[in-house]
Amino acid sequence: MTALFTPTTLGNLNLPNRLAMAPMARLRASADGIPSSLVPVYYAQRASFGLLITEGTAPSEDGQGYMNSPGIYNDEQIAAWKKVATAVHAEGGRIFMQLMHAGRMAHPENTVHHRDPVAPSAISANQTTFTPSGPQQTPMPRALSREDVLQTIDDHRTAARNAIEAGFDGVEIHGANGYLINQFLASNANIRTDEYGGRIENRARFAIEVAKAVADEVGPERTGIRLSPGVELGGLNDGPDGDELYRYLVSELDKLGLAYVHIHHYGNDGLLRDLRARWSQKLLVTRANRPLEDIAKDVENGLADIVPVARWALANPDFVERLQSGAALNEADPSTFYSGGAKGYIDYPTLQQASSAVA
Ligand SMILES: Cc1cc2nc3c(=O)[nH]c(=O)nc-3n(C[C@H](O)[C@H](O)[C@H](O)COP(=O)(O)O)c2cc1C
Repeated sequence: MTALFTPTTLGNLNLPNRLAMAPMARLRASADGIPSSLVPVYYAQRASFGLLITEGTAPSEDGQGYMNSPGIYNDEQIAAWKKVATAVHAEGGRIFMQLMHAGRMAHPENTVHHRDPVAPSAISANQTTFTPSGPQQTPMPRALSREDVLQTIDDHRTAARNAIEAGFDGVEIHGANGYLINQFLASNANIRTDEYGGRIENRARFAIEVAKAVADEVGPERTGIRLSPGVELGGLNDGPDGDELYRYLVSELDKLGLAYVHIHHYGNDGLLRDLRARWSQKLLVTRANRPLEDIAKDVENGLADIVPVARWALANPDFVERLQSGAALNEADPSTFYSGGAKGYIDYPTLQQASSAVA
């Protein structure tokens, strides 16, 4: 465990420990993507993590996917996020914003403009999603034109600048888990015949161009990217050349000198080792359903530099202190993950609160 409590650096930041809070959608924004007044409280409570990564946040109106998910594309949103960054910094923390374009996972009822979702190709995700009128199927998306692709890259650039203006320490580009960038990478969602589809260099092009634009705008030391090789969320399948694609992608991203790659890891450790070998900056590795006793293993074995955790962070604002002292953990309550409001959001007790409640 001690490996997790040694300091490290990330870009220009000094992190006091190697635990990060993984990005988690909590859907506590208004219908037009403005984070509520609870959001600064939630993140500030968790400031003892070496790094906080926010929930997926839309870089544009098109990018908004879920009901009450936040955005970072207008002044009101920037002003609300400023309160989050300020609150976290006041508690001594560091925070990156995850930029998430939902692509074909969006539903028109969940966006401000109510237009059809966009995607690399007109292929439906065929997923059920929550909307103001109940669960619905994700509709057929509109394929982005070449001009739209360039505009979407530029939207990420502007959103990154907005996040920095709001006081964030950096941004994480969401290239994982079935959303737009991941849709470009996956051969069953991207059947484009232009330079953004087909062979691996083409399917990886959108991710690389977004990363370049963001790094160019806010600095590579303030840019990270999340990838999820082999993860079949949102109906995606990387295809038979998937591993090769990720080796190529990470090698190309390495040339940009980004602060980190964050792997959401389900697949085989062989690929993870290959990616590690191709990456010279910091590697964050989230493993779904990792047992607590294995939490330090990847850092101890040199496979990762930083370990993000999601549900433990959600349920334990003082997870760092609890892990260090071997204290018991609060259980996360899935019924309040996306329920809105304070319950299950800012009321998980710290050890100190729990003991004074008993006393
Ligand atoms: C409530 C919830 C919301 C999530 N939202 C996001 C998100 O916005 N962006 C993202 O990249 N991953 C998201 N994830 C995935 C987590 O970052 C993480 O990869 C996953 O939960 C596995 O980690 P864990 O076993 O520590 O929970 C979410 C997970 C949960 C539980």
